[in-house]
Amino acid sequence: MAGIAHLSDIHFGAHDPKIVAATEAWLQARQPDLVIVSGDFTQRARLGQFRAASAYINRLRAAGHRLLVVPGNHDVPLYDVVRRFAAPLRRYKRFISSDLCPWFENDEIAVLGINTARSLTIKDGRINHEQIALMKRRFAAVSPTKTRILVTHHPLFAMPIGKGGELSEAVGRHEEAVQGACEAGVHLALAGHFHRTYAEAARKMAEKAGSALIIQAGTATSTRLRNAEPQSFNWLQVRRNDRCALQVVAWNGTSFQDGDRVAFEFDGRQWNAHKGAGA
Ligand SMILES: [Fe+2]
Ligand SMILES: [Fe+2]
Repeated sequence: MAGIAHLSDIHFGAHDPKIVAATEAWLQARQPDLVIVSGDFTQRARLGQFRAASAYINRLRAAGHRLLVVPGNHDVPLYDVVRRFAAPLRRYKRFISSDLCPWFENDEIAVLGINTARSLTIKDGRINHEQIALMKRRFAAVSPTKTRILVTHHPLFAMPIGKGGELSEAVGRHEEAVQGACEAGVHLALAGHFHRTYAEAARKMAEKAGSALIIQAGTATSTRLRNAEPQSFNWLQVRRNDRCALQVVAWNGTSFQDGDRVAFEFDGRQWNAHKGAGA
């Protein structure tokens, strides 16, 4: 069983310090095999914000956590036009990670991170052909007994973002990206960006979507909330390539509390949920 803490949208510069400290305490107590942060480390890609995010990441590393991180659109400078176009991810590479295609593999899981943050789009992300080829190549070399996990900041699919069920924009080249994820046999597609938690079988969201389970994380530590959904992150437990369980760990004003555990079983074609069952 692999334990994964999936945090996203930590947004230093618009963060709540006591919630930041609470994530560290939770991770220290739970000791996941992998901590994923799926982008938006800062609010405005400013130097001081990157320094604070870097200090957080370094504290997690110093505490012994293994991390896999990708940048988000807020990690590309918005107002500094020169920096935005000349070196959009220079600060991210300097302060957070120089690896834009991070990889983690153990006996149970193989995890690939892909950078979807771009200069030319203000908030909507994009995947390029080399990234799609990389995804197929890397996962093709993985034992079929492992769970293949893709991490992006922007979800591959249009997501429900409003109370009325309105859909977001999908990531650029999403049809090719979804096709690539399908061919690569991606089991779990983890993302953030919308500050909303969500889990759904890809097949229910789009035709030809393949067998991935789409899992969205909320914002872990930002004070900018959507639809008053509290700060949260996801706790995932994954067993081989056919079982996983998801718990949303949500901030209740004073501490992080584990929410309902939803177990999913992969039947060879898609993931099916069994609320309350074990993984
Ligand atoms: Fe965000
Ligand atoms: Fe974002």
